Amino acid sequence: MVHSLNKEFSEIFPDIPADIDASGFDEARVPQHVAVIMDGNGRWAKKRMLNRLNGHKAGIEAVRETIRCASDIGVRYLTIYSFSTENWKRPQDEVVGLMNLFAKTMLAEVDGLDEENVRVMTIGDTSALPEDTQHAFAEAWEQTKDNTGMTLVVAVNYGSRAEITSAVQAVVNEALAQQEAGLEVAAVTPEAIASHLHTASIPDPDLVIRTSGEMRLSNFLLWQIAYSEFYCTPVLWPDFNRYDFLRAILNFQGRARRYGGV
Ligand code: IPE
Ligand code: IPE
Ligand code: MG
Repeated sequence: MVHSLNKEFSEIFPDIPADIDASGFDEARVPQHVAVIMDGNGRWAKKRMLNRLNGHKAGIEAVRETIRCASDIGVRYLTIYSFSTENWKRPQDEVVGLMNLFAKTMLAEVDGLDEENVRVMTIGDTSALPEDTQHAFAEAWEQTKDNTGMTLVVAVNYGSRAEITSAVQAVVNEALAQQEAGLEVAAVTPEAIASHLHTASIPDPDLVIRTSGEMRLSNFLLWQIAYSEFYCTPVLWPDFNRYDFLRAILNFQGRARRYGGV
């Protein structure tokens, strides 16, 4: 797949830090799908003696910059891990604050995203979110669903194990419905499972970025990232900017993807 920059490289990256050698940037090898585990908001806030929610708020600017940069360099899908099925364990005020932040931010940003031709969708069980948060995501999808630019996939109340489990249940249910004689075990194929994941319409990520120095998946896209490349950076999410994104892309472009071959 050949991608193209939507702007001049120097316009997207006007002030490249000295440690980055961007001369090898290959416009034709921009990853089609980048998935980001945005981590470190709490530590960013703690370092400044602030409440964790201030860290989440500060993270919004990093999201904005990453979306713009990804769209400008021709990424087709950007998935951002915003709230996991395990994040409900956090203190109530943080959970409520995050849900309000999602609703408020989505409402405030949707017109700008629409103008940039970005399509906004969600993966995860949004039915468990507060009504106004659900509504904000649903409205964003309604407003942007016909856009032809980058797709922004917001993973919210997302957990890979729950997703895979319900996909397998759906395949088995289909098989049971079709087979009066009983379940046809052979109906449970990788393709059938993939077709029931929330990501059924989305190609697998080429690159997964995790910030804050952690090197784990935290229940993110376990099925979909079987052959994705990984990039971890110690930068805390609110500090992540377009040059950190560029570092990840350049690093990705230096990898040889073999998919089990030679
Ligand atoms: C990531 O930052 C944001 C969400 C999980 C919503 P954290 O809140 O996990 O920040 P740390 O890991 O505690 O620093
Ligand atoms: C992963 O971060 C989830 C999101 C970024 C939304 P966490 O901070 O929840 O992950 P753990 O607990 O460090 O594994
Ligand atoms: Mg964390």
